[in-house]
Amino acid sequence: MGIIIKGTGSYVPEKILTNADLEKMVETSDEWIRTRTGIQERHISTPEQATSDLAYEAAVKALANANMSAEELDLIVVATVTPDHSFPSTGCVLQRRLGAKNAFCFDLEAACSGLLYSLETAFSLLKCRDKYKNALVIGAEKLSSITNWKDRNTCVLFGDGAGAVIIGKDDSVDYDCIVASDLHSDGNYSEVLKRRSGGSRMPDTAETIAEGLNCIYMEGKEVFKLAVGAMVGAAKSVLAQSGVAASELRYVIPHQANYRIIDAVAQRLEVEDEVIYRNVHRYGNTSAASIGLCLDEINSSGAVKRGDYLVLTAFGGGLTWASLLIKW
Ligand SMILES: CC(C)(COP(=O)(O)OP(=O)(O)OC[C@H]1O[C@@H](n2cnc3c(N)ncnc32)[C@H](O)[C@@H]1OP(=O)(O)O)[C@@H](O)C(=O)NCCC(=O)NCCS
Repeated sequence: MGIIIKGTGSYVPEKILTNADLEKMVETSDEWIRTRTGIQERHISTPEQATSDLAYEAAVKALANANMSAEELDLIVVATVTPDHSFPSTGCVLQRRLGAKNAFCFDLEAACSGLLYSLETAFSLLKCRDKYKNALVIGAEKLSSITNWKDRNTCVLFGDGAGAVIIGKDDSVDYDCIVASDLHSDGNYSEVLKRRSGGSRMPDTAETIAEGLNCIYMEGKEVFKLAVGAMVGAAKSVLAQSGVAASELRYVIPHQANYRIIDAVAQRLEVEDEVIYRNVHRYGNTSAASIGLCLDEINSSGAVKRGDYLVLTAFGGGLTWASLLIKW
C-alpha cells in the first residue's frame, strides 16, 4: 500500500492582464518587466470571483482526473494568503460547493510555500491514520485582491489561480509520493514580505487602505537573495536524504516567482535546463497556486509518468521555504 498522486487540476481566471495593459496603469514598460522577471501576462479574477471559486474549478478537474467523487475525500487543505473570509475557512466553503461531506477541512497559511507545507501535512495525516484514505490539497490565490495597483514595484509581479492535487492510498503500489521533505521557517525575516494591515495587529481603516498598507509589501532585493539560497538548500537536502541524484530528476519545479530566481536556482543545482519547469511568463507569481499550476500542466500534457522523480522547491513570506522530493 502506498500514498500516491491520484489526480491534479488547475484553473486560472479568463481575464488576462498583459505588460502592455500595465504600461497604461503605472510607469513601467514591457521591457523592464520581461528583463527583471520574465513575466509577460497574468490572469486576474473578476470582482465577483473569490479564492474558493478558483479552488472549486481546480478541485472539480482534479476529482475528474483522479476518477473520484467528492464524497471519497477525507481531508481538504487549502493553502492561501487570500482566504474568502478570515473564518470560516476557504476549505469549508469549498467543501460545501463540492459536497465533500465526509471531509474535514482547514486552511494553511505559509504564503508561497503553502502548497508544499499542505502536501506534507496531508501526507503525514494519511500516513499516521488508517482511516484517512484521500486528501485534496489546493493552493489557491486571488492576489489581485491584495495588490496595490498603483505600486509598480509589486503590481507587475502577481496573478490569480488555483492548482489542486489529490493524494491517496492505493493497494497496487509499493511506494509513497513524498520520498523526502525539508521544511523551514524563519520569523526573523517576517518584515521583508508581508501585508501590513488587515489583521488583528492593525485592523484596516480608511487610512490604512488609502496608504496601501492592506496590500502586498515586499523588499524585492532582500527577498531575491534569501529566496535563491533557501530554495537551493532545501532542494539539495531532499536529494541528499533520498539518495536520488540530480541527474535522475524528470523535473525540478521551483516556485514561479520570476525567471531570474528560477535561473539562479537552476545554476546552483547543476541540472539540465530542460529539467527546470517554467510557466511564470504566463501566470506571474500566483503564490500558493504556482507549483500546483505546474503539476497540473505536466500531468495533463502527459509529460510525467508513474515512477518519475520531481523536486518541488518553494519560498515565501514568513519567511517560509520547503522542498519535497516527489515520486509520481
Ligand atoms: C522586484 C525585482 C524584480 C526588482 O528587480 P531589481 O533588480 O531588484 O530592480 P533594479 O535594482 O534593477 O531596479 C530597481 C529600480 O526599478 C524601479 N522599478 C521597480 N519596479 C518597476 C517597474 N515595474 N517598472 C519600472 N521600474 C521599476 C524601482 O523604482 C527602482 O528605481 P530607482 O532605482 O530609481 O529607485 C527583484 O528584486 C525581485 O525579483 N525580487 C524578488 C521578488 C519575488 O519574486 N518575490 C516573491 C517571492 S515569493
